[in-house]
Amino acid sequence: MPLVTSTEMFKKVYGKCAVGAFNVNNMEIIQGIVDAAKEENAPLILQVSAGARKYAKHIYLMKLVEAAVEDTGLPICLHLDHGEDFEICKSCVDGGFTSVMIDGSKFPFAENIAVTKKVVEYAHAKGVVVEAELGRLAGVEDAVNVSAKDSSYTDPEQAVEFVHKTGCDSLAIAIGTSHGAFKFRGEAKLDFARLKTIAALLPGFPLVLHGASTVLPEFVAKCNQYGGEIKGAQGVPEEMLRMAGTMGVCKINIDTDLRLAMTASIREYLAANPADFDPRKYLKPAREAIKNMVKHKIRDVLNCSNQL
Ligand code: G3H
Ligand code: 13P
Ligand code: ZN
Repeated sequence: MPLVTSTEMFKKVYGKCAVGAFNVNNMEIIQGIVDAAKEENAPLILQVSAGARKYAKHIYLMKLVEAAVEDTGLPICLHLDHGEDFEICKSCVDGGFTSVMIDGSKFPFAENIAVTKKVVEYAHAKGVVVEAELGRLAGVEDAVNVSAKDSSYTDPEQAVEFVHKTGCDSLAIAIGTSHGAFKFRGEAKLDFARLKTIAALLPGFPLVLHGASTVLPEFVAKCNQYGGEIKGAQGVPEEMLRMAGTMGVCKINIDTDLRLAMTASIREYLAANPADFDPRKYLKPAREAIKNMVKHKIRDVLNCSNQL
């Protein structure tokens, strides 16, 4: 079974639930995620950021994901997360990814359309699908740092024009989520009315939610109990994600919750075993922590078990 695009996955889940898209940076993270998806018989998107490519190198991640496909027989989609320009998208298309995101959300509308269209033309010619973004999420990640005042929700009419003019295969929208470990300053809420309008104007078209970690308090607490100083709170409530999956959102991105689960496990292990210095000793439970978190997301949050 080769790597697949997200096209069939999205068709299958549309209106029922969303597929989990999990960020990967190394072998243990990949193994934890694919083991979880295998046990849940769930569709899976593994996504790689520019920072991950810089950290691990494209070829290592590519080969690890190919190994995961061969090892599990799962139909996995390998996706570039937040491609900032045409060049990085081209490099990932040429380098074997089956899906790329061109994140032109920082540009004015016309410029976002132009760069997205260019990526779509290149990617489609090689059988690769394209996610684009319209509207701006607040929050911090390696390549993107958007303050709350610079964030803006997706305009429904613009979304229609954008999709028609670019030919993109899916669209990330801004309806209140944000990247990182601190998402809501006041009440946690998503603009479901806006999502409903966008989905009604683009029937059957796959929408994407970024910044969808829930930042479960017990994981922040466990990190901090063993010496961490993580300022994290108030992620997206799990029931809101489940609801979004029934309203046209087909892909939900989760990274921060995996980072917290892995870090909590490593901190806990090293605190209990201060004499250990074999990385296998602390990475084994860390990989298990990733697996447990992903199983929880697939089964209890996204509701996409047995959707293969
Ligand atoms: O939204 C982005 C992901 O969380 C990736 O983060 O750029 O630090 O790898 P990164
Ligand atoms: P979180 O920071 O909420 O995990 O979002 C990840 C994301 O959107 C990756 O593109
Ligand atoms: Zn994102």
